[in-house]
Amino acid sequence: MCIKYEFNKGAIILRLNEEQKAMLEGKRGAPKKKAMEILTKLGEIYGAEEMVPVTSVHMPGSSVVVAGHAGTKFVEDMAAQKGKFLPFTTLNTGACDLSDEKNTIGFPEAKVEMQKRLTTAYEKMGGCPLHSCVPYLAGNLPRQGEHVAWGESSAIIFANSVLGAYTNREGGPTALAAALTGCVPAYGLHLKENRRGQVLVNVHVPLDDINEFGTLGYFAGQICEDRIPVFAGIKQAGIDELKMLGAALASSGAVALYHIVGITPEAPTLEAAFNGLRPQTVLEYGKAQRDEAYAKLNRTGEDEIQMVALGCPHASIREIAEIAELLSGRRVKRGIQLWVMTALPIKTMAERMGYVKTIQEAGGRIVCDTCVILGPMKEIMERNGLRSLATNSAKLAHYAPGQWDLKVHYGPVRTCIEAAVNGRWN
Ligand code: F3S
Repeated sequence: MCIKYEFNKGAIILRLNEEQKAMLEGKRGAPKKKAMEILTKLGEIYGAEEMVPVTSVHMPGSSVVVAGHAGTKFVEDMAAQKGKFLPFTTLNTGACDLSDEKNTIGFPEAKVEMQKRLTTAYEKMGGCPLHSCVPYLAGNLPRQGEHVAWGESSAIIFANSVLGAYTNREGGPTALAAALTGCVPAYGLHLKENRRGQVLVNVHVPLDDINEFGTLGYFAGQICEDRIPVFAGIKQAGIDELKMLGAALASSGAVALYHIVGITPEAPTLEAAFNGLRPQTVLEYGKAQRDEAYAKLNRTGEDEIQMVALGCPHASIREIAEIAELLSGRRVKRGIQLWVMTALPIKTMAERMGYVKTIQEAGGRIVCDTCVILGPMKEIMERNGLRSLATNSAKLAHYAPGQWDLKVHYGPVRTCIEAAVNGRWN
């Protein structure tokens, strides 16, 4: 039963149920009180009228590179005060590969220890230490219409667009609050009327490789910013293509939801995607736009590379299978780091399929729990003389130069593997 509960001197009336009210009044312990204070404040800012229960949380701020000392201490304090998560909660990508007990990559020991502290604190509260940005490939899979509270931009946009679940872009504190209380204020993308398309993107070129979807996303994200694009003219797209598209849209822009006519669940037709209204903007994506986006993502004049990073977002089993096939019987050039980043459950499957052995025999690594952006790469780059990186991910190509001053080559996975074998971008 919902009751009216006034706060902030009645300026806003937010309907809280009995349990939510008890949490706010401190009757369920200090962590839930703090969490409810954060959420009611958020509801006040955005004019929410009620809280909506969430069925799952995906926790950003799970890497100590992001959380830092203050964030780690805050989560530890919540755990020490016996905070408990209510909905199923998975942890986003961390800073180090905790599955590699010998730390063969050589993550700085201080970072490894701090990451273990942060992960343990989340685990004490009930968090699942998945440490991946593809929770939907590893057990956190909401259905269409479910309300969830997810962080990590590539996962958020996948949940909204491909699964048809409802989530806003949660940051560390609000996702933690949602996990502790099981609810979020009903505003933004939790409301159906805010989910209609705003920008029409007519796609005129074939998208032949998954990185082509990333290039399209990079192009559209720059123009859409936080608006919702609707893509028309895409004939086919699988899960890997859709995750690449979303990750790029959420990198060059702040897009949290997209539609593809005839493919994603809220866009059976163009009219349905726009809810019968006209687009605010119409974009054309042809060869000229594609070539321009490629040129922007390839930010180096040097041909030599020292690192190849694949799996941003974390690689699926099908992507790993393709990489293993391309590497079979070949050898990564001496001195080149080849990272295939994925979630631990996917690595386990890849081991069973023999893909891990093939990749390792060729001189590559399967890296779990972390990635090039959320790991402490400065130390690793300095130690290994890494200056230039090749990737098939538009998201990684977009962030790596600013985050770590890496020069970037961007292209299809096949070209990236050739670069790993030859040490040069062709
Ligand atoms: Fe995932 Fe890291 Fe890329 S969190 S989307 S692999 S930047």
